Amino acid sequence: MNRDYLKDFPTLNREKNGKRIAYLDSAATTQKPIAVIEAIKDYYEKINANPHRGAYELSVLATEAYDEAREKVRKFINAEGSEEIIFTKNATEAFNLVAMSYGMNFINEGDEIVISIAEHHSNLIPWQQVARAKGAILKYMYTNENGELTEEEIKSKITDKTKIVAVTQVSNALGTINPVKEIAEYAHSKGAIVIVDGAQSVPHMKVDVRDINADFLIIAGHKLLAPMGIGVLYGKKDLLEKMPPLMFGGDMVEYVYEQETTFNVLPYKFEAGTQNVEAAVGLSKAIDYLNEIGMENIEKYEKELVSYALDKMNKLEYVKVYGPKEVEKRGGVISFQIEGVHPHDVASIFDTFGVCIRAGNHCAQPLMRYMGINATSRASIYLYNDKEDVDRLVEAIEKTYEMFSKWR
Ligand SMILES: Cc1ncc(COP(=O)(O)O)c(C=O)c1O
Repeated sequence: MNRDYLKDFPTLNREKNGKRIAYLDSAATTQKPIAVIEAIKDYYEKINANPHRGAYELSVLATEAYDEAREKVRKFINAEGSEEIIFTKNATEAFNLVAMSYGMNFINEGDEIVISIAEHHSNLIPWQQVARAKGAILKYMYTNENGELTEEEIKSKITDKTKIVAVTQVSNALGTINPVKEIAEYAHSKGAIVIVDGAQSVPHMKVDVRDINADFLIIAGHKLLAPMGIGVLYGKKDLLEKMPPLMFGGDMVEYVYEQETTFNVLPYKFEAGTQNVEAAVGLSKAIDYLNEIGMENIEKYEKELVSYALDKMNKLEYVKVYGPKEVEKRGGVISFQIEGVHPHDVASIFDTFGVCIRAGNHCAQPLMRYMGINATSRASIYLYNDKEDVDRLVEAIEKTYEMFSKWR
């Protein structure tokens, strides 16, 4: 735990078997700073009303808080307009929104949808559904032995028939940083639109949607110090304008007649029903918190930590680390296997040492199958981790290997 943050993140003070935990599962969800927790409490103590529907002061304040959160997200990713920021329940809902609204309406028989083999299920299954319903072809870009997408692979899969390219900026299973700007440029030259999964990138590095020229970018609030229950779909205005709403009901309408309805303007057209204002308030505060530290500083700090971890882990001949060799090509995810120990056993034993990691297929079953494995153990870091956490991880690896030595 980085001492500077110990006071900010109460959960990280938790102990297991007499030791403070080493939380290394931020790719699954991040811990929340007191600033975020307080902002939510404050919202409920001082405001709490349904936004957009009331003329009284509390409702106006709730509306302002919600709008402010949207504007905060806009600035954070440098979108042109706040109407391009749609709040969703999570990243998964955002992918489904694009797939069901854009995919189902603008993809035709024989069109190609290109994704990478390392996509999270939430950026994979919706495209299977679109491809199946529309008679389109779902094509995969495969990673090389280092978990990277080569230029050759990218250019051989994106063709004149490609209409959608959906790719993650940082893989949650391998840690690979994909060249999304270059992918977008090439995809656009072929007339395709590009959807970037920013769930594992936006919390860890400066992401500028106009610089990478993403048509859509998806964020998971809870992986960015914010509460669960909020995600973001960024979309270019001209694309969002032509997409039909996915959910129907209150707030997303303009006029409703017995047999027909006209819809509200962006972004409200896509936000049916009462929204998760408390989570938006939390997200807003989380962005303030990150901005105060500076995304460049966070990225630099995490690179140092990952480099420190890789140096140590690569020295253990019984540990296999997946993903790129060079730290520049990696985010904060380190997927690994310990020879002769199942990843689930690894995670359970680590828990007894107070080291929190994840094991499994990381919602990337096609990737695991492609790599010929069932699962990996995954340690993932964030700004609040430090070298001591990494030392704890390495010590846990050594002890676990040792424990299993009698069965070898
Ligand atoms: C790369 C990536 N994309 C999408 C998601 C889905 O996020 P959520 O479960 O918050 O919808 C995750 C979550 O683990 C992820 O790591």
